[in-house]
Amino acid sequence: MPRSGPGAGPPQAGPHPLGGSAGVLASRGADITPSQLLEASGVRALLDQLDAELIGLAPVKGRIRDIAALLLIDKLREQQGLQSTPPSLHMCFTGNPGTGKTTVAMRMAEVLKQLGYVRKGHLVAVTRDDLVGQFIGHTAPKTKEVLKKAMGGVLFIDEAYYLYKPENERDYGQESIEILLQVMENHRDDLVVILAGYKDRMDTFFSSNPGMASRIAHHIDFPDYSEAELMQIAQLMLTQLNYRFDEAAAPAFTRYVSLRRQQPHFANARSIRNALDRIRLRHATRLFMTDAALTREQLSTLSAEDILASRVFGSADASKEHAP
Ligand SMILES: Nc1ncnc2c1ncn2[C@@H]1O[C@H](COP(=O)(O)OP(=O)(O)OP(=O)(O)O)[C@@H](O)[C@H]1O
Ligand SMILES: [Mg+2]
Repeated sequence: MPRSGPGAGPPQAGPHPLGGSAGVLASRGADITPSQLLEASGVRALLDQLDAELIGLAPVKGRIRDIAALLLIDKLREQQGLQSTPPSLHMCFTGNPGTGKTTVAMRMAEVLKQLGYVRKGHLVAVTRDDLVGQFIGHTAPKTKEVLKKAMGGVLFIDEAYYLYKPENERDYGQESIEILLQVMENHRDDLVVILAGYKDRMDTFFSSNPGMASRIAHHIDFPDYSEAELMQIAQLMLTQLNYRFDEAAAPAFTRYVSLRRQQPHFANARSIRNALDRIRLRHATRLFMTDAALTREQLSTLSAEDILASRVFGSADASKEHAP
């Protein structure tokens, strides 16, 4: 089943979802500057939050700002009676696992709602199995059902290239693609489709599906995180969870990250989250063994030993621990 919902994202910033910027314009007239409009529509707060809660990703954040600017300027133009057409905002997010594609898609949905581009701003995340049926006549209703759920928000299709299987002569994926193409064109002012996956496979998919390629306005690439960024992501996750590394734990985790990155199945920020989960497990076990009253400090402080017990430091077999 598709996973849907407003996501674990932040609370809505600002009181005026879309109507917001229109409302601001109506009351302020044409004397408002773009920056005031950004502020008043609540979009600036969302963008700032995006900056603070997502490490790195400068090109991705830049692109979201550009899209916000485009939509706000479109509003100002509309106000002046200039031709204003909602731009097509279908996107493609490419990058390796754990680089933040799903997370950014959720944030994008919130920003688009705040800008009044879509009504609801929810994200419906699906894969091929949610769209394509096993039998004749099953695909169209499945795809339409998903589209109905996603209308007013963002439809996120993970590993979208699996929709197209040229090796199966009568693959139903093609039927789903046709329906998607139609809706992407006809409902582009209330539905944003984001295709996600590995870059090389997506390129192949687009070259065989020019109709899809021509409807995607924004291609955004998510690079792998640097070691320093992965450390910052870990610190951010720990802070959010009310944990911290003690003095020796921080360098131990840096070593962990540099070893782990070179091993199979490394999935960027997701591997960091998984590693922290296991460290918390060892921390809990260690505290349990002391069997004494525990202080707040002890409950929240992770030590080097919680990290160094990882198989990443010893065995050549370490990758098994991290299989996705
Ligand atoms: N830049 C970042 N800053 C902080 N946390 C991040 C960042 N990028 C990703 N994360 C966290 O890492 C985890 C994985 O991110 P996400 O699921 O968005 O990756 P993905 O690119 O969709 O991966 P996949 O391709 O495997 O679906 C999430 O818990 C997310 O919150
Ligand atoms: Mg994802």
